[in-house]
Amino acid sequence: MSFGGRVRLWPRSLGTRTAFVVILGLVVVQTLGLGIHTLDRNDLVRLAAVRVFTFRVMSVYRDLVETPAIDRPARLGRIPLPTGFATRLTDDITPLLVNTVPAPPPIRHSILLNMDNFPLPPELRPQHVRIVADPDTRRQITAIQMPDNSWLVISSRLPRPDALEGVEFLVAFLLMTVLAAALIVWAVRRLTAPVRTLAAAAERLGRDVNAPPLPEDGPSEIAAAAAAFNTMAARIRRFVDDRTLLLTAIGHDLRTPITRMRLRAEFMEDDEQRAKMLGDLDEMESMVSATLTFGRIAASNEPLSPIDLAELLRTVLDEAGDASPDFADKLSYSGPDHWTARVRPQAMKRALTNLISNAIKYGDGAEVRLITATGQGAMLRIEVADNGPGIPPEHMERVMQPFQRLETSRNRETGGVGLGLPIARDIARAHGGDLVIANRPEGGARMTLTLPV
Ligand SMILES: Nc1ncnc2c1ncn2[C@@H]1O[C@H](COP(=O)(O)OP(=O)(O)OP(=O)(O)O)[C@@H](O)[C@H]1O
Ligand SMILES: [Mg+2]
Repeated sequence: MSFGGRVRLWPRSLGTRTAFVVILGLVVVQTLGLGIHTLDRNDLVRLAAVRVFTFRVMSVYRDLVETPAIDRPARLGRIPLPTGFATRLTDDITPLLVNTVPAPPPIRHSILLNMDNFPLPPELRPQHVRIVADPDTRRQITAIQMPDNSWLVISSRLPRPDALEGVEFLVAFLLMTVLAAALIVWAVRRLTAPVRTLAAAAERLGRDVNAPPLPEDGPSEIAAAAAAFNTMAARIRRFVDDRTLLLTAIGHDLRTPITRMRLRAEFMEDDEQRAKMLGDLDEMESMVSATLTFGRIAASNEPLSPIDLAELLRTVLDEAGDASPDFADKLSYSGPDHWTARVRPQAMKRALTNLISNAIKYGDGAEVRLITATGQGAMLRIEVADNGPGIPPEHMERVMQPFQRLETSRNRETGGVGLGLPIARDIARAHGGDLVIANRPEGGARMTLTLPV
């Protein structure tokens, strides 16, 4: 939900959406069912109440009709009545009919039917019956004409069934809804799990073309999607392999003509031109050998094995210190003394060497940090930071591209070809991690290599 003024009710995830719709439908259906059931039950309750009411009315009537007319008012006063009942005798019911409405037909019919069933000698049966309701007092009024034409008027409050019946029913209803909702959530999560798996696999493929294929099982649609995905991944892999092969083949074949040209250059008369020519050829050769290295790394299928990353980092730093003794005291490591991770050791060492040698070349020193992490989906981080000029943000994407070097690089003569960062990033991605460039607020560049735990 967003609280920026507008609250979003429509959930984003497929699972939540489906569960939301199905549960909403369930609640509507349940409520309708509950309503229908309640109406039905209320009808029954009302009919039962009407029967009881009629029986009472008829009891009073029989009592009176069997009493001589003269004694009736006195008798009426003595008949025990249930609470809420009122009785009187009258000769004229016209005023009664003015302020009332006819009772609902089902009630009237039911009362009449019950009256017919009441045991009475035929000569004592009521001649006329009026059944009305007083909307103001919500009373139901029954007027029965006696054989002597006077009327017995009996009124009682209308039975009013409670709308929502017992608490038990409500609890059962809620329990059922909650159980069904839980079942729906579970089923929907299960059904949408393959979609998440597919998304994760696509994400992994983007980082590592050699990622293991998806299992092609489960429901037929999911299996078909997984199979299609695996076919696509295999095609991409073949495509990448072909390109890599092409690259290394060209690199390889260029070596011979370069060697021949170098021999020919030796015969050049002009010393200056010869030196330039040899310099160019040196550059070409180092590009070719870097290209071959690049291809070798892309093609290598070095297996993952557990190694001590902390140890590896210290080794790389030591070797870098040996190679450039001037900077040996500007190399530092911080982090745990030992930390085992599953990596491709040769490739990982190359990636770290590239980052550390960059930090030394362009930043005059390297501060290496290992930030560990544990738990599902967590990433550990290796940070290589320096105090150099950093990398202008607009060039951060460019320096990740092969053969891209920044014009501002101070040590042009260090002879790099611009493959260090792309190789390091390829290696990080082949491990399911990544390489991110940033500048430190206090100055200098910081390369962060992440690896899944
Ligand atoms: N730590 C750093 N600080 C400043 N600039 C850097 C840093 N690391 C890399 N760069 C810039 O990014 C460019 C590309 O780096 P990359 O490692 O890919 O190639 P290279 O170092 O020039 O050559 P190679 O690594 O192939 O010998 C470098 O030329 C440099 O300009
Ligand atoms: Mg480099």
